[in-house]
Amino acid sequence: MVKKITAALGAVLLAALAACGEGGSGSAGAGGGAGGGGGDDTITMGFAQVGAESGWRTANTKSIQEAAEAAGIELKFSDAQQRQENQIKAIRSYVQQKVDVIAFSPVVETGWDPVLLEAKRANIPVILTDRAIDSEDTSLYKTFLGSDFVEEGKKAGKWLVENTTGPQRVVELQGNTGAAPAIDRKKGFEEEIGARDDIEIVASQPGDFTRAGGKQVMEAFLRSTPNIDVVYAHNDDMGLGAIEAIKAAGKVPGKDIKIITVDAVKAGMEALAKGEINFIVECNPLLGEQLMELAEKVVAGEEVPTRVVTEEGTFTSEQAKAALPDRKY
Ligand code: AHR
Repeated sequence: MVKKITAALGAVLLAALAACGEGGSGSAGAGGGAGGGGGDDTITMGFAQVGAESGWRTANTKSIQEAAEAAGIELKFSDAQQRQENQIKAIRSYVQQKVDVIAFSPVVETGWDPVLLEAKRANIPVILTDRAIDSEDTSLYKTFLGSDFVEEGKKAGKWLVENTTGPQRVVELQGNTGAAPAIDRKKGFEEEIGARDDIEIVASQPGDFTRAGGKQVMEAFLRSTPNIDVVYAHNDDMGLGAIEAIKAAGKVPGKDIKIITVDAVKAGMEALAKGEINFIVECNPLLGEQLMELAEKVVAGEEVPTRVVTEEGTFTSEQAKAALPDRKY
């Protein structure tokens, strides 16, 4: 009898110890999770999104929310409305709430070190998603999941070099100033068009990745810049805004003025299929599933690659027609 009671007590003690251990890895996090997740195994992620500026962003947010739910990760989500100070506030509040992992898509490249140092000191791992930061201290984040924006710019420039003859006067609609995709897509494009002396960027302004911004800047270009041959827009939304401005000026988008964009969201692909856009470089917003997998690993203290590059292609009008029926976003 005494033996049986001792064995039973031993089993209860072991089970309790095991439970403590599990709770510790889920919340205290061998990989640096801070342990605010609510005392059970559920991982809590604080996600600081850029905003809701484009079709791409809407698809990206949906992908993250759905993937978190599917993975059983508790998601605390904030929308910074394209303002860095809002993102910094959100990250700081996630640190105070002691989430297990912080993920964010930085609205601009610079100025993150102080807040990321706070996360590091609180032992909360950080994952960069979609956009990178410009910092010498790579210990401030575990990994960066997203596209190669320079490569996207190169693909856009290469298409122009290979698919036009004679002088090309290009106007460029940039993303928001200081954002990684705006900087890198410009750089990649300029590198490629350097192969031809007769392709020139004659005007370049930020349209902030929004349709309204693209329309407004294009209207100004049409007033101020003669003989525009090509619009290079850093995303579909700005390209769609430019189409409105071009039509309002009595010109035919895709014919009188060629349009190259980046993203390949549904509305962009529809315009491409109609011939109003001439070429789209894909930027994949469906990062949710990969992000949750990385989050689970960093919270568990597992090694992850410091850079995970998204695979993506390009679309001509014919390819857009073929792809549209199955397009998810
Ligand atoms: O960072 C990705 C970019 O941000 C997308 O190309 C653009 O549409 C978005 O706003």
